Amino acid sequence: MGMNEERKLADKMLVRGGKPLNGTVDIQGAKNAALPIMAASILLRGQRLTLDGVPNLYDIQTMRRLLCHLGAEISFDKHRMVIDVPEEIKCETPVELVRQMRASSLALGPLVARCGRALLPLPGGCVLGSRPLDFHLKGLAKMGAEIELKGGAVTATAGRLKGANITLDFPSVGATENLMMAAALAEGVTFIENAAKEPEISNLAEILRLMGAPVKGDGTETIRVTGVERLHSAAGEIIPDRIEAATYLMAGVITNGSVTVRGIPAGIMDAVLGKLQEAGVEIDIFNDEICAKCAGPLKGVTVRTLPYPGFPTDTQPQMMAVLTLADGTSVIHESVFDSRLLHINEFKKLGAKIELQDNVAIVTGVKKLAGTEVHSSNLRAGAALILLGLAAEEETLVCDLQHVWRGYEGLVEKLRSLGAEIEIEAVE
Ligand code: UD1
Repeated sequence: MGMNEERKLADKMLVRGGKPLNGTVDIQGAKNAALPIMAASILLRGQRLTLDGVPNLYDIQTMRRLLCHLGAEISFDKHRMVIDVPEEIKCETPVELVRQMRASSLALGPLVARCGRALLPLPGGCVLGSRPLDFHLKGLAKMGAEIELKGGAVTATAGRLKGANITLDFPSVGATENLMMAAALAEGVTFIENAAKEPEISNLAEILRLMGAPVKGDGTETIRVTGVERLHSAAGEIIPDRIEAATYLMAGVITNGSVTVRGIPAGIMDAVLGKLQEAGVEIDIFNDEICAKCAGPLKGVTVRTLPYPGFPTDTQPQMMAVLTLADGTSVIHESVFDSRLLHINEFKKLGAKIELQDNVAIVTGVKKLAGTEVHSSNLRAGAALILLGLAAEEETLVCDLQHVWRGYEGLVEKLRSLGAEIEIEAVE
């Protein structure tokens, strides 16, 4: 896989902080759109799915290996991925891939819909509290699948799935996606109520429509999918990564510089841009470019993570990093995941003042941070520690970087192009 495979080995980043980041970066395709859309290819028989804008990331390679294990043939070059799916595929996903990435669970719905049986070892991925699959499984059961949990794996068995009315207890992104895909080959109509409204859901819906599945209502809380017997080849595009874009904008803000992200519609970033503005950041939007610049000292704000269109939990650690240096107090409520505030212990090592009360972090702004050694516990926490290192005095060594390569293509090159002084160290 070239660059990212090598980078997977780079485990530490030395950041020489205190330099303002300035300039423009191009935004990659969204990891969280590409993963479910790749999984949707499982629905095809003897057909091809062509995707443009696929980011070259570790998680994408994991999904690629998973699909190849099932029997697909995949070529991936310059962000174009071509997935050829044969008439017959395997229906069991391998434990070593599934353990690496929670998004492997996105194979479950399409596999059972297409093969009548699917086996999924219980997945891994970032440690973000307990991340059960109960909504996925309840939804599939409602469509007629028999679910069995045994020996650390889920087996779903069904004849042809049947359309159903499913109401999610929470607008889970993954459950919405899994059920949309399963419904595409089910008999009859499926309604998913309290569905997730993320732009990545609409991207999947668009690709399913291109494959011949009538999907309606994506972007609203009710999604309707009319099942078909067979889908066909299609070609489509992955939307830009709003989480990557937010991370670079915040890298500009935290270093008192000014970063422009290119190739992303501002409309899918409203919550983040609004919060940055409230904190005193100047946001300038022109066509598909967004520029963030500090107009003066930053002010503390209250942030609550919520399902889209609310403030994304995947940018909460980066926003917290920015707020550690704001004037006054900020209050950050994490309401999507139950233990996604553990990074505050690492933040404190750099001099941040943060207190944790249940799922609420109270951040008291400090004037400066001092570099030291910190460890990243997950993908976005790792990105946030890099931002803190960029703002801190002296040097920061960010360790356990393997998480970060799962989400940011060309991170080192992009940061350096903005003026960051960073070195990568491989594991001995
Ligand atoms: C996706 C994103 C992840 C993001 C998250 C929330 C991908 C590949 N990953 O993850 O980056 O942080 O959305 O925006 O797109 N839950 C249950 N039971 C279930 C499913 C979920 O209780 O069956 C809970 C989870 O524990 C969590 C909440 O629902 O507290 C939201 O999770 P969900 O939206 O499903 O996240 P993912 O799809 O796993």
